[in-house]
Amino acid sequence: MVSQSYARLMTLEEFIIQGQNNFKGATGELSQLLRDIALAAKIISHEVNKAGITNILGLDGSTNVQGEMVKRLDLFSNEQMISALSRSGNVCLIVSEENDKPVRTKSSSGKYVVAMDPLDGSSNIDVNVSIGTIFSVFSRKSNIADEPDESDALQVGTDQIAAGFVLYGSSTTLVYTTGRGVSVFTLDPGLGEFFLSEPTVRMPVFGPTFSFNEGHIRSCSDAVKNYVSWCKNPDKVTGKPQQCRYIGSMVSDVYRTLLNGGIFMYPETDKLPDGKLRLLYECYPMAFIVEQAGGIAIDKNKRRIMEVPLSEIHQRSSVYMGSSRNVTKLMEFME
Ligand code: AHG
Ligand code: MN
Ligand code: MN
Repeated sequence: MVSQSYARLMTLEEFIIQGQNNFKGATGELSQLLRDIALAAKIISHEVNKAGITNILGLDGSTNVQGEMVKRLDLFSNEQMISALSRSGNVCLIVSEENDKPVRTKSSSGKYVVAMDPLDGSSNIDVNVSIGTIFSVFSRKSNIADEPDESDALQVGTDQIAAGFVLYGSSTTLVYTTGRGVSVFTLDPGLGEFFLSEPTVRMPVFGPTFSFNEGHIRSCSDAVKNYVSWCKNPDKVTGKPQQCRYIGSMVSDVYRTLLNGGIFMYPETDKLPDGKLRLLYECYPMAFIVEQAGGIAIDKNKRRIMEVPLSEIHQRSSVYMGSSRNVTKLMEFME
């Protein structure tokens, strides 16, 4: 009986309240922030799932600070996230991939700063391949009586108090951590409710999969070239080479790595010596999630992504993240 199965499932709301009750001194403001993000996720998911019908596909015609062509759905997602994050009054500043400068909300006394990629994987929108939203949450540094400023945004990965992503795929999945493990929720679009599908994700210590755009291989380091060749050699035990899986949306490639194990890489290249992915709102949040699930996330200098210093809000970083044994093996090639 379908209705019976719901009785056993925990809603996101119940999970948030439980987390808040277990956290001494919790004021409920972070809980409200997570609710607001979940609301935006439902609205964006609704739009993504009918994108082919309404005129939301295709290019908007503008380019963003990254010099990338902006898609209509990028802008729609950005607007929805900014408006949702402004509802509770708990967020004073928002950094978005789609905005050159940090966006001040109406509530200058808000306790939190949110950095986000409102729509990740934009190149996949028009071909109906999974896309997502990535977010990270920091406590503001400036005095609550002052106006928030860019210093509130220039924090380091280990300062994150929460991080997560939404994956708009065959189902809409919300994955987040507040530093006490990674939980996964799946949206029932009929009820408009997120239900807990995995309370604590543990990434396998090894996965026979590497995720990397081999189109860039010629301009990668020898370490990456030699590691990828090593992945293609038949394994001594199984006799099989590793498989390559690359979707081109970081949210999808990282989510698969989280559940099945393996490694996701976006290396530095000749054209992008610091890599393509943005440290603040792609690498930091994904590194927080990966580490909380038992994995490793490093950059080209073998530094923990969470500790790579941030000096500019749209700063890029090379990124290698995934199962501990996969990343440790890569590090041997980086010697
Ligand atoms: P975004 O759409 O937010 O710009 O992010 C796209 C990123 C990331 O999602 C993905 O891992 C990477 O771009 C894919 O880049 P390539 O197409 O160069 O492989
Ligand atoms: Mn992105
Ligand atoms: Mn994006």
